[in-house]
Amino acid sequence: MISDPLTTQEPEDEPPTAGGPRRHGPLPAYLLPITADVGSEGRLRIGGVDVMDLVEEVGTPVFIYDEEHLVRRCQEARQAFGPRAAYASKAFLCKAMAALAHGEGLCIDVSTGGELAVALASGVPGERLVLHGNNKSEAELEAAITAGVGRIVVDSFDEIDRLAQVLSRPDPGQGGSLRPPPSVLVRVTPGIEAHTHEYVMTGQEDSKFGFGLATGAAAEAIERLRHPTSCVRLVGIHTHIGSQIFALESFQQTLAVLGPFFTDQSLEELCIGGGLGVPYVTGESAPSITEWAKTLRGAARAAGIGDTVVLSAEPGRSIVAAAAITCYTVGTIKTLPRVRTYVSVDGGMSDNPRPVLYGSGYEAFLPREAHALRPRTVTIVGKHCESGDVLVRDASVPEDLEVGDVLATPVTGSYGHSMASNYNKVPRPPVVFVRDGSWRVVVRRETYSDLLALDS
Ligand code: LLP
Repeated sequence: MISDPLTTQEPEDEPPTAGGPRRHGPLPAYLLPITADVGSEGRLRIGGVDVMDLVEEVGTPVFIYDEEHLVRRCQEARQAFGPRAAYASKAFLCKAMAALAHGEGLCIDVSTGGELAVALASGVPGERLVLHGNNKSEAELEAAITAGVGRIVVDSFDEIDRLAQVLSRPDPGQGGSLRPPPSVLVRVTPGIEAHTHEYVMTGQEDSKFGFGLATGAAAEAIERLRHPTSCVRLVGIHTHIGSQIFALESFQQTLAVLGPFFTDQSLEELCIGGGLGVPYVTGESAPSITEWAKTLRGAARAAGIGDTVVLSAEPGRSIVAAAAITCYTVGTIKTLPRVRTYVSVDGGMSDNPRPVLYGSGYEAFLPREAHALRPRTVTIVGKHCESGDVLVRDASVPEDLEVGDVLATPVTGSYGHSMASNYNKVPRPPVVFVRDGSWRVVVRRETYSDLLALDS
C-alpha cells in the first residue's frame, strides 16, 4: 500500500471514480503519506511507526506528519523551481517545518510578523525569507528589514509610503546608519478568475491583494518603486491567482496575460505564487509539482519571457497536505432512523475548519484496519457547540466502526493546524513527525494552563 514517491497523481490501478461503489472501497493509497504501509494485522504504519501505538502514547486528536514525505516534496519544489523557490508557510508552520524546508534549500514565504518570528526562531536566515501581506504594519516591515529578508512583496501604495518611512529612519543596531535598500517584488493582480473556491481566488480584478494590471495601478507602482528617490531595489513581479487549483490552464492564462507587461520591465524575477491543488477524496487527481513547473516554463516561454528570467513559485498545500493525517477518537454514535448516523469525534472545526469554511470534502478510515472496505455511510462531526461542526458529511467507514475507535482523516497537512482555533476553549492538538521507525512531538498539545495564560 505504498503510493508513488514524487507525484500526487493516482496510481494506474486506481482509476478516478467520483462516487459509486469505489467510494466504499478501502481508502486509496494515494491519499496517504508516501511512507504509509499496512502491517500484517492491517494496522497503518507511517514512517515505519505503528499509528495505533503512537496514538496510545500521545492521545487524540493529533496531527501525524510523515517527515520523509515533507522532505521529498520540498526537494521536488527545489528541483523544479531552483533556489528562489519558497515554501508558503501559512499552509503549516512550526519551527521544525521551517527548519526542514530551509534545510532542503527552499526559501520561506511568511505573511505576518508572527510567521516571520517563527521562521527566524527556527534558524532560517533573513535572506531566505520572503515577506507577504496586504496590510503589513510598520512594525512588521521594521522587523523584516532588520532581519534582512531576501524579498518583500509590495502590495499597496500605502505600503510603498510605509516602507519609505521605515527606511528613512537610521538603524539603531548599525550605529545609526541608513539601511541598504531591500529587494522587492510588486504583487500584480492579472485579472484571472482561477477555477477554485471563491474564498481562495485572488487573481481576479476585484481583489484586496496586489496592484491591478488592467487599471494601470501595477505600472504606476513600478514607476514609483523605480523612481530615483526610491529606497528599495525592484527585482521582479509576483502574482498569486488562488489556491487548490487543478486546472493548469489558469496558470497558463496568467502567464499569457502577464508576459508582455513583464518583458517590458526588464526585471530578473517572476514569481507565480502557489495554488497547485491536491486530491482530498477518492476520484480526484492533480498534477505533480514537477508537471506544474514544466507547464509554467512552457507558458512563460510562449509569453516571450526569456530563460534567463528566474521563474519562481511558492507552493504550500502541494508540499504539506498529503504528508499528514489527523487521528481522532470516536466518542458517541447516534443513529437517527431514516435520517443519518452521527459519529462524534474529540476534535472538529477547531482543528479543521475547512469543511465549514469551504465545504471541503475529506475521507475517513480506521488506522487499525487500513485496508478495510468502507460500506457504511455516516456523518462525522466534532465536539463543538454548533450544528455546522461537520468534518465529513457523507463519510464511508468500515462496518464495524464503534465508540472508542481511532478514526483518521487523511490529507490534513495543510491549512488544518495553521488555521486551528480554541473555539469552545478546546486545546489545539499536538503535531508529531514520524520518520525511520521513530517519532517526535514537534508542537506539544495545548493545556488548559495555556488557554488561561493570556487571561489577567
Ligand atoms: N503565495 C501566496 C501569496 C498565497 O497567498 C498563498 C496562499 C500561497 C502562496 C500558497 O498557496 P497554496 O500552494 O497553499 O495553495 N485556507 C485556504 C487556502 C488559503 C490560501 C492562502 N494563500 C484553504 O484551506 O484552502
